[in-house]
Amino acid sequence: MLAPANMTGLEAAFAGRMLTEPTDMAPFLTDWRGLWTGRARAVVQPDTAQDVAAVVRWCADHRVPIVPQGGNTGMSGGATPDRSGEAIVLSLIRLNRIRAVDTVNDSITVEAGCILQSVQDEAEQAGRLFPLSLAAEGSCTLGGNLACNAGGTGVLRYGMARELCLGIEVVTAAGEIWDGLRGLRKDNSGYDLRDLYIGSEGTLGIITAAVLKLHPRPVARVTAFVAVQDPGAALDLLQTVRGRHQGSLSAFEILSGTCLSLVVDHHPGARRPFDAVAPWYVLVEYSGFVDEETTRADLEATIVEAFEANIVTDAVIAESLAQSQAFWALREGIAEAQAAIGKTIKHDIAVPVSAIGRLIAEADAAISARWPTLRHVTFGHVGDGNLHYNFSPAPGQDAATFMAVQDDLNRLVHDIVMRHGGTISAEHGLGILRRDEAARLKSPIELRLQKAIKQALDPLGILNPGKVIGGAD
Ligand code: FAD
Ligand code: MLT
Ligand code: ZN
Repeated sequence: MLAPANMTGLEAAFAGRMLTEPTDMAPFLTDWRGLWTGRARAVVQPDTAQDVAAVVRWCADHRVPIVPQGGNTGMSGGATPDRSGEAIVLSLIRLNRIRAVDTVNDSITVEAGCILQSVQDEAEQAGRLFPLSLAAEGSCTLGGNLACNAGGTGVLRYGMARELCLGIEVVTAAGEIWDGLRGLRKDNSGYDLRDLYIGSEGTLGIITAAVLKLHPRPVARVTAFVAVQDPGAALDLLQTVRGRHQGSLSAFEILSGTCLSLVVDHHPGARRPFDAVAPWYVLVEYSGFVDEETTRADLEATIVEAFEANIVTDAVIAESLAQSQAFWALREGIAEAQAAIGKTIKHDIAVPVSAIGRLIAEADAAISARWPTLRHVTFGHVGDGNLHYNFSPAPGQDAATFMAVQDDLNRLVHDIVMRHGGTISAEHGLGILRRDEAARLKSPIELRLQKAIKQALDPLGILNPGKVIGGAD
């Protein structure tokens, strides 16, 4: 990289919107998990797509790496610069306008820096639902959601961020603005650039705006918290649900007893839904377009059937919105509770839903044999086959000893996942965390094609270098 002696030109254009003092830049240089801390020459905060294009052109001219950043809630280190101090962090948070709401087309056009929750609120005001939902929704941005192809808790009914997006506006690596803001549900006019940029984690272009799909708002939502003996029983419950009310199911999340204890210990006010302690729990949600009474009766009937078949050992259906929110808080509080007890080792794996039980049993046995004191913190979107197969230090274990096992543990888990026909990244992306593991596990053909795409769209290699793509050339 050619390192320009100063940032003349950029400084003048972005006066008041460019941070260079270490203390001002600090929050942008460390990731949410506190695993990676980098350095940067500046954090630039443009207001418009034209501004973004100007920054990218300046960086292309001076061969300066760009690290795009939204809410900085990503789990894989993709939004953190390396330690060289060469890069500019391009923060998109000031691109935060809702450009249009079209209730006839059932779409909303938003800028990349809009906070997910604000898009959900805007949709609600228009009498619609924007169904992307994750625990970081109060601080993550739509640009980040699309760049990572985020998943969350609504995927089994509504799909991932990709399925919720009709069109995007992108600043290319050359600093041009590609207007792909098409609100179309059908468009077969050539290679799908939208789908290429979605999930590319800032390595192919900067997403500056998007047209998103809106859905009808369900009239009723009913949530149950259910105890089961093991993940196999959770799958049996899923089968029972599907046999009776497949169309009503809108969430099916699993959490281990350890996860529930962590949340209850960490979050003041969090309460166990029932006194009996179980090894595993499932949060089931039905939502739909019939009244609440009918939706509740359907969920009750499903759970009664599961009780009679000895699939569930305990269950409670929320009696009120407040109780339903309390159940959801137990599930959504896990990431924060896990962060509160120290460093984390996370796996964001997916296998065919039918293989989840076998995967957990096999991996648990292999890990317990090799690292008997590791604390397993297993939970996830089991209805989609996506598990957060996470670990925390044993009580009293120091962070360095715990983190020292990370590489070996990752390899062990990922090898088992691959044997079950799975993926090592379901929704969090590769970033820096899983880049080398992906290079180890993907076929040479897939790696070559991916590198060819990167080379074609970012020939100077200035967009988020070192992320996603790894391995020898
Ligand atoms: P950032 O962290 O800022 O960036 C993420 C990546 O996208 C980086 O590679 C960055 O370079 C790139 N990027 C950001 N903005 C742009 C842009 N405009 N153009 C191009 N590239 C860009 N994820 C899930 O999928 N499901 C979950 O259930 C889930 N739960 C979470 C719970 C918690 C408590 C937390 C902290 C995170 C969770 N996540 C989850 C992680 C998730 O990926 C992020 O929350 C979110 O999608 C990232 O958005 P962000 O704006 O914070 O992106
Ligand atoms: C979640 O689903 O809560 C997050 O994606 C998972 C995590 O913290 O690993
Ligand atoms: Zn998740």
